Amino acid sequence: MSVLIGVLICQISTPAAFAIEISEAARTVPLNAAGDTITLSEKQISNGQRKFNGTCSACHLDGVTKPNPDVSLSFESLALAVPPRNNLEGFVDYLNNPTTYDGQASLEELHPSKARADLFPRMKDLTEDDLADIAGYVLAQPNIVGRLWASGKPGR
Ligand code: HEC
Repeated sequence: MSVLIGVLICQISTPAAFAIEISEAARTVPLNAAGDTITLSEKQISNGQRKFNGTCSACHLDGVTKPNPDVSLSFESLALAVPPRNNLEGFVDYLNNPTTYDGQASLEELHPSKARADLFPRMKDLTEDDLADIAGYVLAQPNIVGRLWASGKPGR
């Protein structure tokens, strides 16, 4: 009986906002190429989303890459880049030192990065924590919106 009352109290006291809670599993993404993972907080994911929308979505709305659709932000595309960008450290590294898909040449004069915030002033406003949150947000999208991410089909 006391268990039942506990359950009832729990349900009554849960604020409605929790209905859109992102599960811990969905917030868990690869950390590095060695296979470690990291679980971001909901606050980090929503900060990543806000910063992504402000700084990246002009070219990467919903995970596509408008200027070059072949190199999207899908998990598969990020995974096959050299070095792999489908983990938080590899993704953040791109935002410090962007390279061509085959890793052979620097894209620092073409792609926004911290290294060339003189060319891309909006990158000045992003801290290293922001970069990690953006990476976490992007890498969690396949878990959250599934195949709609980077599909080119507006899904949200
Ligand atoms: C002016 C347009 C533009 C903006 C703004 C931009 N990107 Fe890109 N991004 C591109 C293009 C074009 C490519 C493909 C580069 C290539 O040809 O390899 C790309 C590639 C990438 C890749 C590599 C994808 C892969 O599959 O390997 C990542 C990661 C990335 N962008 C993240 C971001 C993030 C995060 C932001 C915001 C901080 C951002 N980009 C802002 C145009 C942009």
